Amino acid sequence: MKAFDFTYFSFSVGISGIVFIYIRSVNLDLGVPILQPPQPLRSSPLIEKTISNFTILLWTWPFGVCSHIEKCSRLLGIPDCHITIERSWYSKADAVLIHHFDLYGNPKRLPQEPRPLSQRWIWFNLESPTSHSVQSFLDNRFNLTMTYRRDSDIYTPYGWMEVLPQKQNVTIPPKSKLVAWAVSNWKPDSRRVKYYEELKKYLQVDIYGRHRLPLPQDQHLSTLSHYKFYLAFENSIHEDYITEKVWRNAFQSWAVPVVLGPPRENYERHIPPDSFIHIDDFPSAQGLANFLHELDRNTTRYESYFRWRSWLKPNGPTPWAFKFCKACQALQASLVQYQTIPDLSKWFK
Ligand SMILES: *[C@@H]1O[C@H](CO)[C@@H](O)[C@H](O)[C@H]1NC(C)=O
Ligand SMILES: *[C@@H]1O[C@H](CO)[C@@H](O)[C@H](O)[C@H]1NC(C)=O
Ligand SMILES: *[C@@H]1O[C@H](CO)[C@@H](O)[C@H](O)[C@H]1NC(C)=O
Ligand SMILES: *[C@@H]1O[C@H](CO)[C@@H](O)[C@H](O)[C@H]1NC(C)=O
Repeated sequence: MKAFDFTYFSFSVGISGIVFIYIRSVNLDLGVPILQPPQPLRSSPLIEKTISNFTILLWTWPFGVCSHIEKCSRLLGIPDCHITIERSWYSKADAVLIHHFDLYGNPKRLPQEPRPLSQRWIWFNLESPTSHSVQSFLDNRFNLTMTYRRDSDIYTPYGWMEVLPQKQNVTIPPKSKLVAWAVSNWKPDSRRVKYYEELKKYLQVDIYGRHRLPLPQDQHLSTLSHYKFYLAFENSIHEDYITEKVWRNAFQSWAVPVVLGPPRENYERHIPPDSFIHIDDFPSAQGLANFLHELDRNTTRYESYFRWRSWLKPNGPTPWAFKFCKACQALQASLVQYQTIPDLSKWFK
């Protein structure tokens, strides 16, 4: 790990135990496709015949919205796959990428024709099990999982940290406001809205979204970047379910994420411990509010939430094309494995 600047740690975290956890987590769990050297390929007669140009059939466009397909050689530096939305390729496709949401819980929306012998079905889902449940008709049908969970066959997180080749200077954009939250799905009974109702007694929170302050797409990041903090409150709590609320709304706009989601330990497998504030760090919303006010007054302390940026760069969310290419990469790396996922509905809870 030559890329690490160990002097960083001397002023960031005092306890060496924490330092090692930090390094280990950075080592283990960053998706880092950009840093990954091309996978060495196992030699097998089968591989030599078909390594290049796997055909991946997109069973639907994710959420029914047509998107771009790009060359995987360009996106990931790997041999290209033939990625298509034309169902006439079904009988020749090496893999069928099936986006969970677009099944609408209906088994008839799965491919109905017999499956060619070596064809893989890939179960693709980036939503949480709470928002889109997984029924048992999906058991024993898929060969590979592709989700935000680290234990997926094809791990497709919303974002990941890239280690910079050399230390860089960090310039925080000017901040004139305190806390923002952009929310489209306002459910009064949800944990996050209840928490907000409590928090707002002690702290001004600017709310963007439907029926609230306007947040046009093209001004999304520039608007949020005026804020010191962003409430990255997930709609449901699941391991590894850390979404664009952190990666885009907070990190891309340089607002410090205040997270409500899985436990701190789980976040620390994805992002540095000093890059975010967890609501569980405080006994109450009032405690959190006091802490944010304190950081607001103390610039040195506030800026300590950006030190990690001198050697890490947040990446993502990525376009769909990038995710399709992760499937391509996985096919190229695991040609000889046969497997079936028996209990998808139990696994994805
Ligand atoms: C890959 O396969 C598709 C479909 O057979 C074909 O149209 C395309 O030209 C092939 N590309 C390469 C680089 O062989
Ligand atoms: C970072 O800032 C220091 C001090 O201002 C300067 O000497 C150095 O060249 C800067 N490094 C980069 C990569 O900009
Ligand atoms: C600001 O925070 C730093 C680091 O925690 C601390 O050393 C310093 O005393 C604080 N400054 C003030 C004015 O409270
Ligand atoms: C994929 O799963 C199906 C359904 O269980 C199974 O019949 C098939 O052999 C598996 N194929 C591969 C390539 O693993």
